[in-house]
Amino acid sequence: MTRKKVLFPFLLLISILMTACSASLSGVKGPEFDKAQTEFIQELSVENIFSSLSELTKKPRVAGTSSEMQAAAFLTAQLKSEGYEVEVQPFDFERYVIPESHGLVVEGFPGPLSPAPFQYSVDGNVDGQLIDAGYGLKKDYKKNDVKGKIALVAVDKTAFYELVLFASEAGAKAILLYFPDELEIDNWTLGREHFKDFIPALALTYDEGTKLVEFVKNGPPVSAAVKIKGARIDKAASQNLIATKHPTSEADDDIILIGAHYDSVAKAPGASDNASGTAVVLELARMFKTVPTNKEIRFLFFGAEEEGLHGSEKYVSTLTKDEIKRSAAMFNLDMVGSADAGDLAIQTIDGSDNVVTKAASKANEALNGDPIETDFGDRSDHTPFHNAGIDAALFIYDPVEEWYHTPEDTIEKLSKARLVNVAKIVGTSIFELTFSGSTKE
Ligand code: BES
Ligand code: ZN
Repeated sequence: MTRKKVLFPFLLLISILMTACSASLSGVKGPEFDKAQTEFIQELSVENIFSSLSELTKKPRVAGTSSEMQAAAFLTAQLKSEGYEVEVQPFDFERYVIPESHGLVVEGFPGPLSPAPFQYSVDGNVDGQLIDAGYGLKKDYKKNDVKGKIALVAVDKTAFYELVLFASEAGAKAILLYFPDELEIDNWTLGREHFKDFIPALALTYDEGTKLVEFVKNGPPVSAAVKIKGARIDKAASQNLIATKHPTSEADDDIILIGAHYDSVAKAPGASDNASGTAVVLELARMFKTVPTNKEIRFLFFGAEEEGLHGSEKYVSTLTKDEIKRSAAMFNLDMVGSADAGDLAIQTIDGSDNVVTKAASKANEALNGDPIETDFGDRSDHTPFHNAGIDAALFIYDPVEEWYHTPEDTIEKLSKARLVNVAKIVGTSIFELTFSGSTKE
């Protein structure tokens, strides 16, 4: 970090100057404020953002693995080198481990079968007679006895998990779900809620399913074997990181929160999702460190978002009632740099405006000439904050890029201009908010 060392005397000077004029910053906004804000934004370094990105995207950062932990160690070291104390908040979460193998054998059936397991398919090694159970509804099982057998079911309008539960209630040992023609069979989920009540389930194509129906119809009883091995739910450990920027002595009680998840899905370097948001939050933490702000700012780095928002849920669950009351705004940055995604969107859980969207829209108007409309969106870490009653919003370039959650989510596909744009909008918004009066009065 020699580059940062060179910057230090300069930062110190700015810091001294700003401390000197903090009295005017705390009150009326005027030329002093504008100057300080401009200087603050000029501090933004896209090189810093990219040096964090190249470190973070060396390998996937899957929640609960040592590489997620290494990413946390890197972020902690960076924050400490900027002078922050870093609180590491560990937590456990339950995760689904996908099967190491799965298979289907139908005795005498000519031709190959390539079934796919579902997310949350349970383990099993069962055999029994294969029964055509129609659409797999309760009335279908009145006509077709599947007790101790394997049910073959056509997917129509009923949720997958319900079809699995109906077959289980009817006494089936396993279920094969064949899909409508236009649906690919990979990567579907049964949801985890009813995991304990599931029987082994595999997906088949329409072609495979209809051929099996014919095969079962025209001959003597057909026996089949279903095997799913190694699927389970187990406990894993992750951590959030919290770095707090303390305010000046003239501060009000408000807290501004800004966060990003730093974990990724398996096999993906997760450059857009979400090294991008992580690197921007880290850079904003560096920039704010030397600014005498009138509100407390908390920089949050969430683990295990991809497994179900575990980090942000954990963090919100540890906030006291008083802290929740004082939390004026939560900025969530997730997928803020893809060159190939749509326009910048600000999303809230109910699609309506709040402290965050208003500040950001105003900042965008000042920086880019027009306001940003607020969209609906609940697929990231702002959700638990909203649910706790805190004004929260997601910053995301939307619609997201085609290679979202794939090994193609690499650093080369990020746009410097887009990262800088978000950093400026969010930086300006927070700068404005920290020098405005308390939102709680
Ligand atoms: N970065 C995504 C959120 C996202 C993706 C928002 C595409 C809008 C469009 C996030 O990391 C993610 O993948 N979230 C999961 C949900 C989460 C609860 C596991 C998702 O959206 O599938
Ligand atoms: Zn994400």
